[in-house]
Amino acid sequence: MTTGSLLVADLVIAVLAVAAWLGAGAASAARRRPLALGLAAVALLATLARALTITALARAGWWFAAEKVLIAAPLSLAAVGVAGPRLLRAPGDIRAVAVPLLFAGYATSSALLVTVLHGYPASAGAGLLAVAGVVAATVISARALGARPSRTVSRAALVVAVAALLTGTGLSVTPGAAPAVPHEHASPAARIADEPTRRFTLTAATATVDAAGRNVAAWAFNGQVPGPELTATVGDVLEVTLRNRNIERGVTVHWHGYDVPNDQDGVPGVTQAAVRPRQEFVYRFRADQAGTYWYHTHSASDVGVRMGLYGVLVVRPGPVTGLDVTVPVHTLAGRPLPAPRVDKVEAGVPVRLRLINTDSTTHRYALAGTAFRVAAVDGVDLRGPTPLADTAVLIPAGGRYDLVFDAPATPVALVVDGRTVYSTGPVSTATGAWPVLDPLGYGATAPVQWSRFDKTFTLVLDRGLDLRGLLPRYAHTVNGAADPDIPPQVVRLGDVVRFTIVNRSQIVHPWHLHGHHVLVLARDGRPATGSPLWLDSFDVRPGEVWEVAFRADNPGMWANHCHNLAHADAGMTLHLMYS
Ligand code: C2O
Ligand code: CU
Repeated sequence: MTTGSLLVADLVIAVLAVAAWLGAGAASAARRRPLALGLAAVALLATLARALTITALARAGWWFAAEKVLIAAPLSLAAVGVAGPRLLRAPGDIRAVAVPLLFAGYATSSALLVTVLHGYPASAGAGLLAVAGVVAATVISARALGARPSRTVSRAALVVAVAALLTGTGLSVTPGAAPAVPHEHASPAARIADEPTRRFTLTAATATVDAAGRNVAAWAFNGQVPGPELTATVGDVLEVTLRNRNIERGVTVHWHGYDVPNDQDGVPGVTQAAVRPRQEFVYRFRADQAGTYWYHTHSASDVGVRMGLYGVLVVRPGPVTGLDVTVPVHTLAGRPLPAPRVDKVEAGVPVRLRLINTDSTTHRYALAGTAFRVAAVDGVDLRGPTPLADTAVLIPAGGRYDLVFDAPATPVALVVDGRTVYSTGPVSTATGAWPVLDPLGYGATAPVQWSRFDKTFTLVLDRGLDLRGLLPRYAHTVNGAADPDIPPQVVRLGDVVRFTIVNRSQIVHPWHLHGHHVLVLARDGRPATGSPLWLDSFDVRPGEVWEVAFRADNPGMWANHCHNLAHADAGMTLHLMYS
């Protein structure tokens, strides 16, 4: 069983236990004896079964089980300890066990709330709040049922509840909010003189575009979605003038995966101010990384990218040989945009398909009718890629895969999520059952670069209640906090940094660090065995633990966030900062 499915199983059992305890309590209060006894038996079994799931989760990693071991287990034991013996004594009046059964229901439900609302790391504050809630709810129920606890018992309960509530509230306010991110003003980049310069202008404006035969409202660069394809040769200087005609939420250009100097990174409020309507900003940097990249607005990025403010950036080492096409896959107004037209080529011509996922969720790509190699991932060439056939690739949000092959004499087709986006003739596109490539085991291995690390960080991804803003929100969290309260990762220039990313939520988080590519060391404790894999976007699936490393060689303040941009907006963003 994977850790992801264990997390789900444990949650389901916990919900079952809560429902059964509360149901048993209600049934006994209503003197429905058989029902009460049946539900209580289910509740006992479910509560005990969690001993297994919690132990298995703890073995997969303390991150997955911390609050379950520290808070849910003691509360569940209390539930079984209080309700169990009273049930076994088989009371004449079943109503006599209503309060203990309800206590068990409150104990298991408050533990569940700690998992769902608070998550990792477990804190004394959360534990105390849970206890306060259980005591208060039990006292109220006892009163309502006319059970008369002695004065001392109810006084003691009151004291426990109030004390737990007060200390719990105090303790669960995490100390030390992140320092505010400095807000700089648009400064034109330093001139890079005497070098071949490629100049482009990107004008952002609202537009109506044709999406698969239907006119939809979009936000577009130069009136088109995707925006113009920017191409350069290694060594060129790129000079891109961004103008905002009428996008009220502001616009910037972030060069996704391109490790530009920090002041060119296009993150509003961090590296520049958002470009407001009728303003402009000039980006200038040397294109010294070859490969497949893309650009997109980072201002209101979730809606901005979804509405169409993105395009492709391809930097080639030299002149194009053969057929070299980019295939950005994007969903506009709920529909996949058609892929660009490709001319048919003669057999034997080398083909490079640059697949780009510009959506916020993973896509599955299958190339039918030919063997191929994955020449590069996230712009970086792989070492010794071997031919693959009848194998699909999964590309995370923001990620890129370059597939290369020699055009066969027979037809080929590209299938994305089961939909054929290209085909040069009749070929079977039944690719749904193909195995998926694991990039961690693909290509030729090379000795590991680093054996010691100057800094290590752990990011635990989850969901939780964020009460710090004006309105409470159910945020996507990192280490229990949401943007802007996640402490930055602080490094020094030259540090070799290792970070561990743990996903204890039920959904995929495509992770993306700006300004650096990270080298994948291991996933779920198993070292990567293939070509060195330098990524800027990688899917951390539920229950997965990734170990990655990078050299801190690009000073500045860098966003480090989930590239499901709705998650990034809902809290899952932090910063990497150089001291
Ligand atoms: Cu492509 Cu901060 O993102
Ligand atoms: Cu996410």
